[in-house]
Amino acid sequence: MASCCLRAWSLWLLCSCAASPPNFVLLFADDLGFGDLGCYGHPSSLTPNLDRLAAAGLRLTDFYCTSPVCSPSRASLLTGRYQTRSGIYPGVLYPGSVGGLPLNETTIAEVLKPLGYATAAVGKWHLGLGANGTFLPTKQGFDHFLGIPYSHDMGPCQNLTCFPPDVKCFGVCDVGTVTVPLMYGEVIKQQPVNFPELESAYSDFAVDFITASAKNKQPFFLYYPSHHTHYPQYAGAGAAGRSLRGPFGDSLLEFDNTVGNLMTTLKKTGVINNTLVFFTADNGPELMRMSRGGNSGALKCGKGTTYEGGMREPAIAYWPGRIQPGVTHELASTLDILPTIASLAGATLPKVMLDGVDMTEILVKRGKSKREAMMFYPVDPSEKYGLFALRLGKYKAHFYTRGSSHSSTVPDQDCSVLTALKFHDPPLIFDVEADPSENYPLSLEERPDLQDVLKRIKAVKTQFEASMVFGESQISKGSDPNLRPCCNPECSPKPSCCHC
Ligand SMILES: *[C@@H]1O[C@H](CO)[C@@H](O)[C@H](O)[C@H]1NC(C)=O
Ligand SMILES: *[C@@H]1O[C@H](CO)[C@@H](O)[C@H](O)[C@H]1NC(C)=O
Ligand SMILES: *[C@@H]1O[C@H](CO)[C@@H](O)[C@H](O)[C@H]1NC(C)=O
Ligand SMILES: *[C@@H]1O[C@H](CO)[C@@H](O)[C@H](O)[C@H]1NC(C)=O
Repeated sequence: MASCCLRAWSLWLLCSCAASPPNFVLLFADDLGFGDLGCYGHPSSLTPNLDRLAAAGLRLTDFYCTSPVCSPSRASLLTGRYQTRSGIYPGVLYPGSVGGLPLNETTIAEVLKPLGYATAAVGKWHLGLGANGTFLPTKQGFDHFLGIPYSHDMGPCQNLTCFPPDVKCFGVCDVGTVTVPLMYGEVIKQQPVNFPELESAYSDFAVDFITASAKNKQPFFLYYPSHHTHYPQYAGAGAAGRSLRGPFGDSLLEFDNTVGNLMTTLKKTGVINNTLVFFTADNGPELMRMSRGGNSGALKCGKGTTYEGGMREPAIAYWPGRIQPGVTHELASTLDILPTIASLAGATLPKVMLDGVDMTEILVKRGKSKREAMMFYPVDPSEKYGLFALRLGKYKAHFYTRGSSHSSTVPDQDCSVLTALKFHDPPLIFDVEADPSENYPLSLEERPDLQDVLKRIKAVKTQFEASMVFGESQISKGSDPNLRPCCNPECSPKPSCCHC
């Protein structure tokens, strides 16, 4: 029925088919743990809108991102490829970084553009800025962008207001660089950004984008990578002091309020029944922030580690009429979002080695996952060490383990930065269905059947690593202070004069 549309979608206005291609709203939280949402068991978080999405949609319990830190995880989300291929490693990009997500990588927005989609990114980019904005979202398939090109702690924040009326941001953030800018398209609108007013600017921008697209009868893709709930926590008047969970809870509530605004807009504009809303997060909680950071629930450790808490994330798929309410334990990943969106839209996949698989069957038919395994790279992947861990079915094997500064402070010493790199031969094996907390490594002596499992895991690892061509590291290209964004480029002394 819709095939004429699918084949010649650029002519979609002329096409008289009843079905129009679906819209996509991709919500991406930051440093949010597996245990942080009400619908994932947090006892005091207030997330009524996300909880409603979960109740009326599909909640995924075995959903993984590809990296325990920001930039690489985002590169995988938008390209359907492990970060090692695109070169977004080791670690993350900085305000003056020379590199960024290479322009020849194909993002979800670029997959959808040929079909006539309107595309917008709002929030945290963190895939590069570069000379003259080389790597901004507007260069990667997004028609519109409002946001911060990197993390909102990547500039001095000690004198900035994070909560109204004038509660200063907690901590110092990154000193010695420019204050964080708010960009509209490729232009700096405000520097430093006004945190208490930021979310309402994002919400208005996203609401306007949906409203305009619906009015034009144009299919759309809205990518909303929120700064919430990354350090430092902030929130405006609608959420400050309104949660039961302090600054972290307020920040999460503010994000949830925006989700509510977007859902209301989808309903009001009449497009809700033709829109897939997908929610997940970039990596596990930053436990070093203690009660100002997130919570990985039943999972071990958090951000910076390849334990479950670093990379297993809450995920919700909502599409009234298409996705039945429920819970799935099928294995899936941020890598799978690009192929799934492409399949639902009838778009052509990029002609590159993809690591994602189409998860439409899981979403709309409650079917089985096409994903056999999930690979775990550390913050600093290298050809020398390769994968730190691999999950195959319900078994996860750790070849290397290491703690992280991001996850220090919890009682489990395995998470601590003081726990150095350990090589495991044979690998540590856990049944992450029976033991999601990775507390009880299985014994190969007591479980001879595991020899077979281990053999299969090693075969999958060998085959995967043989297919892995490491792209040139973009982050190793280094930083140039002159590339740091300044709203007043000719001013001096920098960086303090970059204030508009
Ligand atoms: C992008 O270009 C670089 C440099 O020429 C190349 O190594 C890489 O394979 C290309 N990536 C893709 C996805 O085409
Ligand atoms: C950036 O733009 C400026 C002004 O147009 C130009 O002089 C400079 O060469 C550009 N830099 C790069 C790396 O393209
Ligand atoms: C913050 O305020 C203090 C006191 O007014 C001042 O000494 C310091 O230079 C300010 N720091 C920044 C980064 O603006
Ligand atoms: C969406 O579908 C439901 C169930 O068929 C219907 O009740 C509702 O009015 C529809 N909403 C819109 C905005 O079309």
